[in-house]
Amino acid sequence: MKKYNVAILGATGAVGSELLSVLESRRFPLAQLKLLALEVGTVISFMGRDYVVEEATGEAFKDIQIAFFAGGSISKVMAPEAVKAGAVVIDNSSTFRLDPDVPLIVPEVNAADLAKHKGIIANPNCSTIIMVLAINPIHQHAKLKRVVVSTLQAVSGAGKAALQEMMTQHKELLEGREPTAAILPVAALAKHYPIAFNLISQIDVFCEDGYTEEEMKLVNETRKIMHVPELAITATTVRAPVVRSHSEFINLETERKLTATEARQILAQAPGVIVQDDPLQQLYPMPTYTTGKDEVFVGRIREDTTVPAGLNLWVVGDQLRKGAALNAVQIAEQLITQNLI
Ligand SMILES: NC(=O)c1ccc[n+]([C@@H]2O[C@H](COP(=O)([O-])OP(=O)(O)OC[C@H]3O[C@@H](n4cnc5c(N)ncnc54)[C@H](OP(=O)(O)O)[C@@H]3O)[C@@H](O)[C@H]2O)c1
Repeated sequence: MKKYNVAILGATGAVGSELLSVLESRRFPLAQLKLLALEVGTVISFMGRDYVVEEATGEAFKDIQIAFFAGGSISKVMAPEAVKAGAVVIDNSSTFRLDPDVPLIVPEVNAADLAKHKGIIANPNCSTIIMVLAINPIHQHAKLKRVVVSTLQAVSGAGKAALQEMMTQHKELLEGREPTAAILPVAALAKHYPIAFNLISQIDVFCEDGYTEEEMKLVNETRKIMHVPELAITATTVRAPVVRSHSEFINLETERKLTATEARQILAQAPGVIVQDDPLQQLYPMPTYTTGKDEVFVGRIREDTTVPAGLNLWVVGDQLRKGAALNAVQIAEQLITQNLI
């Protein structure tokens, strides 16, 4: 089997660390591995070898075939450099997601769009990936008319520093001290709130219409991935004091009516989805239990009786795994299977 030279930009971060774990667990055909980040010189052990973190420059991508980007806004300048050096970039940032020349891929939904790539492929927003895995199978069977999604998003979704800050805040509060807050909701803004024992109804910056950019990512990325530019979809995103795994309440209206039983059957057969829905046994998805799992879990499947054809779903998935690293590695696997690299 052919092996590939791979680089990870942002290897020391939350997504970068998970990328290493996914590459190992899926036995990705690695020839060489290069790890890049801001803190040059850090040593990372991976599959019995020590790797020294290097600086992210255009030069670093020479001889690299697949470059996973998980370094945030640096993608804007560095992804075109990596492509110039000959690499295919799979980018976790939001920089290129809505660029018409860049495929935005969830392999279970639109792997065929990869054929159009020109060097950069965008990995969607974590909440978007988790949602489309659950709603695309329903759309295929009953055609979506309207989607209302409300999220409760884990703190690790804001990166390793935000998670560390929440842990410190819990300790401070339990010791009766004032919690320190310097990162959430948005590190670059002046005002910060503690997330420990709290909820923050702001993820990313506000747009002029009062929605946040995170909310608009759910709207616009879903339309692009599922090829439904006219889909009526509205989102509310909330940061919750959860370590890992995003949760989403999704209310759907469809053209054709599906019973809850039919929806359960459709989702039980959907790739990457596990139905966990048994009220009598108090069985429903929870972030603590979906953490580290590859699949997205769906429960609380109910008919919405206020409309002719509607459903309510509770969807939970590990945003660092399927919401980021796993989806990115699956994209790389698709590039290989489809002979696109
Ligand atoms: N966290 C999630 O659940 C999640 C999910 C989906 C997508 N994403 C996206 O994935 C990206 C990474 O997020 P994260 O949560 O992993 O962030 P993170 O934990 O803060 O890690 C950021 C990583 O990028 C590196 N980095 C930052 N600026 C750099 C620069 N100028 N040059 C080289 N390396 C640089 C950091 O290096 P040092 O450690 O050396 O500073 C670190 O390795 C972001 O675009 C984020 O929006 C995150």
